[in-house]
Amino acid sequence: MNDVILVTGGAGFIGSCFIRHILKTEEVSIVNLDALTYAGNPENLKSIEKNPKYTFVHGSIQDAKLVKSICEKYNVNSIINFAAESHVDRSIMNAHPFIETNALGTLVLLETVNELKLKLMLHVSTDEVYGTLGKSGKFTEITPIAPNSPYSASKASSDLLVNAFVNTFGTPALITRCSNNYGPYQFPEKLIPLMILNALEDKPLPVYGDGLNVRDWIHVQDHCEAIWTVYKNGEQGQVYNIGGNCELTNVDVVKTILDHLNKPDSLINFIKDRPGHDRRYAMDIEKISYELDWEPRYNFELGIEETIKWYIDNPNWCNNVRTGAYRDYYKKQYGEI
Ligand code: NAD
Ligand code: DAU
Repeated sequence: MNDVILVTGGAGFIGSCFIRHILKTEEVSIVNLDALTYAGNPENLKSIEKNPKYTFVHGSIQDAKLVKSICEKYNVNSIINFAAESHVDRSIMNAHPFIETNALGTLVLLETVNELKLKLMLHVSTDEVYGTLGKSGKFTEITPIAPNSPYSASKASSDLLVNAFVNTFGTPALITRCSNNYGPYQFPEKLIPLMILNALEDKPLPVYGDGLNVRDWIHVQDHCEAIWTVYKNGEQGQVYNIGGNCELTNVDVVKTILDHLNKPDSLINFIKDRPGHDRRYAMDIEKISYELDWEPRYNFELGIEETIKWYIDNPNWCNNVRTGAYRDYYKKQYGEI
């Protein structure tokens, strides 16, 4: 029998890429449970919404009764948990929704897996749980967890809960931890889409601090393929790092975007640093490469070019996500620049 997977948070950036990809390539059915927060957008799934192997349910992973009833109704046998509050700057403004969804919501899913004896839960996590790096070294799966932002603390809490359930109850679960994603359909609060959209309108590009913080960039399609590889072949109870082998400073990323758009570097506006701003992330991906034979396929130059083109070609999507709520957030975060 083919798997019926409960994908949570599937209307967001990465979850929607995963659903579009998997329904095209695999014989599985997907039930997508999404609360449709500001970051959840049904438009991201327009291309597959009529697929008979796809069902959408509007609701929260914190609602234990709902999660259980969905699993029973649709004969779900596994869960892939993308649902989260995902933006560091918002977690600095208010950490509560982060703990509620990222920690408590994950707890509800783990309890459901136990109660209904589901086959597997894959929990999608982040390199940010490891904290920050100096100039050298990379995060491995045994690097101690040391989160610095309310967001990463909430993700670390969820990872620790997964680990505790595996050890205490033998819950069939595993964790992926990925670096910074980019690609189409990313909400323009995150660095790359924000800079593309501002540059297209000749607005200043707000770079925090000295712009020399380093992130390891991976195309969202590569991340989704890695998640599927881990789902199929990963060992229960294990953690798998995922990364793009592509370390860049923020200012280099922003200059690359400006170059592609033929816009001047003078649009760059260095502003006050993010509090607790992690200096450098870099992922050691040897484990997933050797054990599961996965490597990222995208090269950043090509990936960023395609991504910029996607934002230029989809002005309606961009206008629709920049709602009143987005404008309020933008004003609070960046002022009247
Ligand atoms: P996103 O913010 O674009 O999407 C999150 C989705 O979760 C939205 O559709 C939202 O409506 C939904 N959601 C929020 N609270 C919910 C709740 N209580 N119940 C059900 N749905 C809820 O985030 P993303 O960038 O797609 O990230 C997806 C996952 O991947 C997150 O767990 C994030 O921590 C992790 N991650 C993201 C990155 C990245 O670079 N974006 C990197 C590594 C890991
Ligand atoms: O590393 C994985 C993480 O990547 C994910 O877990 C998070 O969900 C995701 O949001 C992302 O977190 P970051 O904080 O690294 O991403 P963000 O796009 O917010 O910022 C990337 C870098 O760019 C970071 O050093 C802060 C900087 N930045 C960001 C914004 C929004 C700026 O300089 N200016 C900005 O306006």
